[in-house]
Amino acid sequence: MSADLPAGFETVRAALLDDAALVRAVAGGRRRGTQPRWRRVELRYVDLKAGRHLQVTSYDATQAHTANHAVGPDGAAALDALLAEPFATWHVDTAEHTHQLRVTKRGEALVHTTSRTAPVAVARDHDREKQRLLPPGDPIFAALGLAGGDGRIKPSRMAKYRQVEEFLRLLDATVTEARAGGHLRRPTAEDPLRVVDLGCGNAYLTFAAQRFLGEVRGLPVAVTGVDVKQQSREHNSAVATGLGLDATFVVGTIADAVLEQEPEVVLALHACDTATDEALARAVGWRASVVLAAPCCHHDIAAQLRRADTPAPYGELTRHGILRERLADTLTDGLRASLLRQEGYRVDVVQFVESQHTPRNTMLRAVRTGAVPDGVRDEYDGLVGAWGLEPRLATLLGP
Ligand SMILES: C[S@@+](CC[C@H](N)C(=O)[O-])C[C@H]1O[C@@H](n2cnc3c(N)ncnc32)[C@H](O)[C@@H]1O
Repeated sequence: MSADLPAGFETVRAALLDDAALVRAVAGGRRRGTQPRWRRVELRYVDLKAGRHLQVTSYDATQAHTANHAVGPDGAAALDALLAEPFATWHVDTAEHTHQLRVTKRGEALVHTTSRTAPVAVARDHDREKQRLLPPGDPIFAALGLAGGDGRIKPSRMAKYRQVEEFLRLLDATVTEARAGGHLRRPTAEDPLRVVDLGCGNAYLTFAAQRFLGEVRGLPVAVTGVDVKQQSREHNSAVATGLGLDATFVVGTIADAVLEQEPEVVLALHACDTATDEALARAVGWRASVVLAAPCCHHDIAAQLRRADTPAPYGELTRHGILRERLADTLTDGLRASLLRQEGYRVDVVQFVESQHTPRNTMLRAVRTGAVPDGVRDEYDGLVGAWGLEPRLATLLGP
């Protein structure tokens, strides 16, 4: 339903102020020609010793900032300050409804409200352990060897569990933004959301995506994992059968694997070198709505930098091996982001896991909006022209 901005925001504000019913809310994106103070904010109520508080987690380009505001005038003021920010979308989950508000290019509010088939519980616990997106007791963790029979994560597998949680946080944010912006349909039991994980390995993240989207967010979902290794398919299919999960595994290469239906969400996590480019090219070919790719090693552009003459005055950036490698990483992912933007994706390059766990810690998250920013092609041509580069993704996408 379309409404003027104040009327549209009334529904959302009322739902946000209802501390008994709010499950969580997310605001993000930006309205045309504006720049909100935060890239994204998440809101929920938490019960602290000092009483119930509105917890606001605000994300800038690199990190999250959390603040708690007492329910009452403080909370309402904090909320109104956020509602005044020019975010493009608000997604508000309450125990019984989901409200989605999108501000159109004409400055109107499009509000869409759906009722849940069954009310969901509101978690207001402040304990971080209990705020896990997928709790350690979820059956996939024991089946995948991350948790013991007591439902606790094994100390030796804690880093992998944290990686799963970070991945789910980014997946959740991206899917929520895509849905709130009208870029991803609402799946149904008959026509579930189609997710593919390219280079799925032991499928930790594949299963986590399935359980989280399906069980925690209540979105019907069908996942497919692709890997070249036959052993991967056998192991992962046995886990899926054992747990009764709707997950299919196929043996094949990222470039050529044949899927029954084109996926809407494409995941590619730690696929080596140009396998990430192959995954991105498949996602573009499928016109996937959402793409999450965490690149692994970057050899292709590094090799091109070693062969090419460095343009002036950037010689110092390639003289030292370690700096040249880092520059190659940056150029690779910057050019990938640019190519996706030229294909109509809104792209963020963000930190995936904390850098002390792995240096391979960036994630490209992309939502297909169909809009191509002015000048992105010229900027790209200038960059590859100056450095004499030919990114693998550009070759795969063709002219
Ligand atoms: C480092 S593992 C990552 C596994 C998983 N995505 C994760 O992040 O936990 C990379 C996986 O990708 C698979 N792989 C690499 N290149 C591939 C390709 N071209 N096609 C299909 N699978 C590939 C490997 O067999 C391996 O299982």
